[in-house]
Amino acid sequence: MKDNNPLDRRSFVKITGLAAGGLITSSLPIQSMAQTGTVEKLKLAVVGCGGRGTGAAVQALIADPDVELVAMADAFKDQVEASLKAIQEHFEGTDRINIKEKNLFDGFDAYKKATDLADVVILATPPGFRPQHFEYAIAQDKHVFMEKPVATDPVGVRRVLESARLAREKKLNVVVGLQRRYEKKYLTLYDQVRKGAMGKIISGQVYWNGEGVWVRSREAGQSEMEYQMRNWYYFNWLCGDHILEQHIHNIDVANWFLGEYPSSAQGMGGREVRKDMDHGEIFDHHFVEFTYPSGAVISSQCRHQKGCYNRVDEAFQGSHGRLVISKGIITDLNGTEKFNYAQVSDEMKDPNPYQVEHDRLFAAIRNKNEVLADAENGAKSTLAAIMGRMATYSGDVITWDQALNSDLQLIKDDLNWESTAPTLPDAEGKYKIPVPGVTKYQ
Ligand SMILES: NC(=O)c1ccc[n+]([C@@H]2O[C@H](COP(=O)([O-])OP(=O)(O)OC[C@H]3O[C@@H](n4cnc5c(N)ncnc54)[C@H](O)[C@@H]3O)[C@@H](O)[C@H]2O)c1
Repeated sequence: MKDNNPLDRRSFVKITGLAAGGLITSSLPIQSMAQTGTVEKLKLAVVGCGGRGTGAAVQALIADPDVELVAMADAFKDQVEASLKAIQEHFEGTDRINIKEKNLFDGFDAYKKATDLADVVILATPPGFRPQHFEYAIAQDKHVFMEKPVATDPVGVRRVLESARLAREKKLNVVVGLQRRYEKKYLTLYDQVRKGAMGKIISGQVYWNGEGVWVRSREAGQSEMEYQMRNWYYFNWLCGDHILEQHIHNIDVANWFLGEYPSSAQGMGGREVRKDMDHGEIFDHHFVEFTYPSGAVISSQCRHQKGCYNRVDEAFQGSHGRLVISKGIITDLNGTEKFNYAQVSDEMKDPNPYQVEHDRLFAAIRNKNEVLADAENGAKSTLAAIMGRMATYSGDVITWDQALNSDLQLIKDDLNWESTAPTLPDAEGKYKIPVPGVTKYQ
């Protein structure tokens, strides 16, 4: 962490509410970096100027005083303008933000124009576009901070895996916004587990049970394409359903702590309360049993329903003990405490993991003594969550190989404002909802 990082956990939470994001710059395209004295200026571009893109840009600028915001891109002009305003307000009274108006881009091809101008790119659009944008950034030799998930379908996952391979080859740094992997508490507990504090993990439960997220209702005069792009959470080509968009965090923790990816998934889900016209095509609950090559079984539940038991957490049972991450406590099988995170650290004073992502990224770019390579894991945890969605939508058992090799493709590259939206409502304005036992994903 930088000494000059002004973001403590509380103000960080404020920023992540406003937005949140990450960015990185490269050790390869040094030639393109302007020089100020002996310190290379690193040029930053943001693609997807919503909440997270805005927050990530702020964090990238805080992570390294010689990062310069040179370009911004969004599908919508008003989003670029609002994001720039928020960034300017954050750095008010400083000379950090001097972006040229001609470098503010909008539209579906804006990402290319912004990426071309940068050393480091933040990719924070809805996840459907990530494979296309990441592929372009790596082809252009850019370092990348990209938000999770990294795709919404298996075709996109395979594309990210290929670009991840290329990024490694080119020694480009890539950080994926699965910030629990950058959070001190998780890292400390992971270390304890690896040292054998609870033996071999044999089962677990991962949760993202909450009330749901924003709805951006249809407005008069909007085309179907604009409506779906604004209200993206509820359309699978853009979002991938909440089992992917949110619950990936918890599924990723299971993959990380087990050190493997699930070999199969089976489960159930549906829409009980999510019945409004603006709720598109996604479910409001999923329950999936993931079985791993080691034999471990992880129960995963995610829910978007008001008035129910809420929990965002992970818990694991091992051959010698148990761990509940929210509590930070490992016990033996008799319940005797073996490790308590509160005794080694004050969680409220721990570094903000969203900021740490950027601190690590820029340090890696500067120091060149490590190359951060999160993309392969980001793609595989994305696939695990997609596999869960395929299981709940179809009612079938879905294996890892079926998911990985599936031809399911929800989004194509050549979209523009005149395109027919990839999913369309019926005459009553309703979208097709998956039906277990009927919907097929093979
Ligand atoms: N790691 C975390 O904790 C965390 C938190 C919030 C969001 N996220 C992730 O960040 C991403 C963005 O989420 P958000 O909350 O900022 O959403 P948002 O709606 O606030 O912002 C998304 C932005 O992307 C723009 N956009 C859409 N399509 C585009 C395209 N083709 N080209 C350029 N811009 C495009 C939208 O207009 C919008 O401004 C998602 O993948 C989400 O899952 C991660």
